[in-house]
Amino acid sequence: MTHSREPSAVGPPPLDLAAEWRSMQRRLVEHIRAGTLCDLDPEPSEIEARAFTDPARLEAEREHVFRDVPLLVGFSGELARPGDRILFDAAGPPILVVRSEAGEVRAFLNLCPHRGSRLVHDCEPARRLVCPFHAWSFDLEGRLQGMPFARAFEGLAREGHGLVRVPAGEWGGMIFVRARPVGPGVEAEIDVVDFLGPAAPLFAALELGRLERVAQDVLPVASNWKLALDTFCEVYHVAVLHRDSLSRNLYPQVAIFDHYGLHHRYSGAGLDYQALLERPESEWPEMHYQAVHALFPNTTFAFTHALDGATPVVSMFQLFPGESVGEAITLATTYRRPGADAAPAEQVAAMHRTVLAIVGDEDYWIAREAWQSLVHAPPGFRLVLGRSETLLRRMHAELARRTGRASD
Ligand code: FES
Ligand SMILES: [Fe+2]
Repeated sequence: MTHSREPSAVGPPPLDLAAEWRSMQRRLVEHIRAGTLCDLDPEPSEIEARAFTDPARLEAEREHVFRDVPLLVGFSGELARPGDRILFDAAGPPILVVRSEAGEVRAFLNLCPHRGSRLVHDCEPARRLVCPFHAWSFDLEGRLQGMPFARAFEGLAREGHGLVRVPAGEWGGMIFVRARPVGPGVEAEIDVVDFLGPAAPLFAALELGRLERVAQDVLPVASNWKLALDTFCEVYHVAVLHRDSLSRNLYPQVAIFDHYGLHHRYSGAGLDYQALLERPESEWPEMHYQAVHALFPNTTFAFTHALDGATPVVSMFQLFPGESVGEAITLATTYRRPGADAAPAEQVAAMHRTVLAIVGDEDYWIAREAWQSLVHAPPGFRLVLGRSETLLRRMHAELARRTGRASD
């Protein structure tokens, strides 16, 4: 049994995904038939090269974005039982996320309050958290429970020496943390419904709590984190950069975009849309919902299919700043969705490796090279965003706003 709270218990009900998908398909078919291809912004826009290369901007992003904004760490199925755990190091402070005895999600700094050791090193479930240095132990609420040779600590108040909590929240099968310890002005509970805003009914409909994690890799890239993230947020490049890989089965440039406050979604059309173009809607063959979801500030997750074309999977990429403004790391995770036609985990893992190779060899090749060139751009140099690069415009505008600038 999983302890994910039912979306309907608090917050808005899920939208009707079948009806939603049909209306998305209509829009895509209309774009192909009419030759308009893509939803477009009213006009192109620009962004300063320094938005990517300025170390001071990165520091502002670390402080006001990566420590203040709820970050997705996984889905409820990954923390099904008390003692299940997720380790999350990418945001800066190492964070430990657990399912408590009461079924709640709790998150702590992965830091032993005795002498500062990293407390937990693996994801083996356990009801007690035991430090490998001197074996202090903690329960799933982070309370200090045991200390070998306790006489040596006589007079010490245990209550003051539990784990350091960081905010956590769970809703609709999604688990979030914030990378800033709970304290004055930092509540322990994240209001996930509030953070998702108008995207909540959509995410609730995706039944994300049922996802099963198959593979995860950490992929470093010598580029700014936003340059790398941008490669996941537009389809303009697909027909060119991915001409020998991803683009073979896609209609070039065809996409619809939907915006939900901070969060976004886009969907393109595979060549299997040919079957929809040829017949009336009443005779359209059944196709699975397919879309890429962009969750502010750093995550995209695609509802797509494994290479067999039938197994429903979710392919997620999360970008984080690395040590410097020109380094980033990516958490790349592939999940299997439940379904009668699901392929074995090994097949999904093979798909995970194939997608990672495309991202590494194609998208991140560009991100690395762009970084090398951009650092030498003259002062005031501005890059251009086309009318179909709308997600980039919106996400960069929000990052600029949160870091105290009117725009980039
Ligand atoms: S540092 Fe953890 S028990 Fe000593
Ligand atoms: Fe790409």
